[in-house]
Amino acid sequence: MPHPSHPQQPIGVFDSGVGGLSVWNALHDLLPEEAIAYLADQQHVPYGSRSRSEIEALTHAAAEWLWQQGAKLLVIACNTASAVALNSLRQRWPQAAIVGMEPAVKPASAATRSGRVGVLATPETLHAERFQRLVAHFAAGVEVHTQICPYLVEWVEAGQLDGPQIEAYLTDVLAHLKQKQVDQLVLGCTHYPFLSPVIQRVMGPAVTLVDPAAAVARQVQRLLRSCQLLGHQSSPDYVFYTTAAAPRLSRQVSQLTPIIHPRVHQAELVQLTPGKTL
Ligand code: DGL
Repeated sequence: MPHPSHPQQPIGVFDSGVGGLSVWNALHDLLPEEAIAYLADQQHVPYGSRSRSEIEALTHAAAEWLWQQGAKLLVIACNTASAVALNSLRQRWPQAAIVGMEPAVKPASAATRSGRVGVLATPETLHAERFQRLVAHFAAGVEVHTQICPYLVEWVEAGQLDGPQIEAYLTDVLAHLKQKQVDQLVLGCTHYPFLSPVIQRVMGPAVTLVDPAAAVARQVQRLLRSCQLLGHQSSPDYVFYTTAAAPRLSRQVSQLTPIIHPRVHQAELVQLTPGKTL
């Protein structure tokens, strides 16, 4: 269970891997006086190819672990984990502050001039009821074209963010969205913003890439303020945890964030039986 919280406690941020570092960067920009504990479940990444019950069990184990580290608020910085497990996390910890990700269909639908919006995400994010509801509520009269992109998460995890192989793959996989002439492209997986330069090149300059990370950071700020939990530390602690090898995450953090010498530790999560999380 989450403890009684104090402003000095860290924000807990969780992703299957390094994608959530795109949200970490937005949090660090907006809330530089907050301590942050980041957990990457790299032993099980990518979540996109796992079953719903596995994703739910892994996400609950990660949340439990971050509460045990003293997190005052949890950011599920993974669209896939949020799509599958956000409701059950909130049921399990009804008093806790939990912020999830969802594909930014609402701002993209508000901004489109062509009336056509593209969404890139994992299969579980797109199949989830949450996504269907999002489209029904916020994209009335807008054509929403979705696309899954296997391999992108693996490339980002491998530190490959650009190059001819990725560009050729994206040219192929995004052809359908180009043909539909979408003018807003929602990055519905937190790994994808790290590929923004190559995605933008392939889609062309007329297409706006929509990343919800900054909006999520503002939501965290609002929530902390309303709970009187905003931190004001002159040198806040940033710690990064992985369920796989610490040296690898250390290299990744220095590649993907402004932190050159991160503190990285290995974390052992208590494995739950899929489907038996509550
Ligand atoms: N960053 C996760 C997301 O936002 C990646 C999913 C995965 O691990 O496949 O969906």
